[in-house]
Amino acid sequence: MEPTCSRQGVEGGIVPHGIDLKSEIRRLCGEKNAVVMAHYYTDGAVQDVADFIGDSLALAQKAATTDADIIVMCGVHFMGETAKILCPQKTVLVPDLQASCSLAESCKADEFAAFIKANPGHTVISYVNTTAAVKALTDVVVTSSNARQIVESFPKDAPLIFGPDKNLGSYINAITGRNMLLWNGSCHVHERFSADSIVALKQQHPTAKVLVHPECQSEVVRLADKVGSTAALLKYCLADDAQVFIVVTESGILHEMQKAAPHKTFIPAPPTDGSCACNECNYMKLITLQKVYDCLRLGRPVVEVDAEVAKKAVRPINRMLEISASHY
Ligand code: 13P
Ligand code: SF4
Repeated sequence: MEPTCSRQGVEGGIVPHGIDLKSEIRRLCGEKNAVVMAHYYTDGAVQDVADFIGDSLALAQKAATTDADIIVMCGVHFMGETAKILCPQKTVLVPDLQASCSLAESCKADEFAAFIKANPGHTVISYVNTTAAVKALTDVVVTSSNARQIVESFPKDAPLIFGPDKNLGSYINAITGRNMLLWNGSCHVHERFSADSIVALKQQHPTAKVLVHPECQSEVVRLADKVGSTAALLKYCLADDAQVFIVVTESGILHEMQKAAPHKTFIPAPPTDGSCACNECNYMKLITLQKVYDCLRLGRPVVEVDAEVAKKAVRPINRMLEISASHY
């Protein structure tokens, strides 16, 4: 059954009772030449209404090439900023501008600039989970899909700074034999997975394969059968013969996994204490079907990026897209 809703819209207007939000969103997209893009961590209903679902890299690549006039980026704010930087002439909407990211929050531009200044002569590599202002200080942006290839595109002894995710950074250091200087940031969702809880799940499901996002801590990453971005984990579970998977990342990805492989079993890894829904990203979950409808209807909230910042930030993003295009 299609979702119906009579909750208040963003303007305080009551949405008429029984409105079919999904059909209305599709109708508005056609009327306004808008495209809805969603990250795998958003609510399942939001993923189901989207024209395109992807990981951070795929969302940036898709935004860079879309013909639509309006991009509704159903994800966190930095994803909307990246789309706006790549398509300054387009309107980019993020249904809730409060949808931040703990990694982006952990890395303030002035503090990152001081870190760079204190370590002269380093190439600066930033994870896409950063603000536009941090990207503007960066030489090349990476996502979890392409971090390895991009780091390996530099000579082994090149001095590199990597920010803000210390877990992704140490994973890339370990698999590439690099010694990048790491910013001390982490994701509040991925930090909460513990090795003990995964070992306990493995004991209950001995044939299960363990899928881990590289934002997890190294003791969790060590237990993985596959480490990768959301898209890489999805691809792996579809291709692999195993029937049961323990999924150690934000639980929104299970929606697409279960849809794509309904005969397989996906078990979300619990957060450390198992007492709450901490394997959900509370920022991603701010994006509801109601807000997608409201933002399309009202044409806001709009993502804006300062023109000077955008001019500097577009270079490292394009550099990433160029290197990625030669690998994928
Ligand atoms: P992906 O690039 O793997 O989609 O990850 C984005 C993210 O925010 C992970 O927490
Ligand atoms: Fe940011 Fe973590 Fe949410 Fe990903 S899961 S958007 S890294 S807070």
